[in-house]
Amino acid sequence: MIICSCNVISDHVVRRAIEDPDTSVARVSCLFGHLGCHPQCGRCAPTLRRLIRESTAGDATHCPAALDDIGDEAQGPPPGAAE
Ligand code: FES
Repeated sequence: MIICSCNVISDHVVRRAIEDPDTSVARVSCLFGHLGCHPQCGRCAPTLRRLIRESTAGDATHCPAALDDIGDEAQGPPPGAAE
């Protein structure tokens, strides 16, 4: 099932990324970074957060990207802001 329609990310891809012992995906932003894409509309964020929470059960404490969560990123830059 596709969870993120903007980036065409399935639940299988998400679970594989979360459960990969060589990565640490503790936040939605880390998941997007791991998958090499960026959040766009943000509609998938609640589902992705739930999958991360369920899979990690609170033990994922390290996130190499260490970015803010999808909430701010999904909004994009403010109008007129340089990227
Ligand atoms: S559905 Fe995931 S960013 Fe839009």
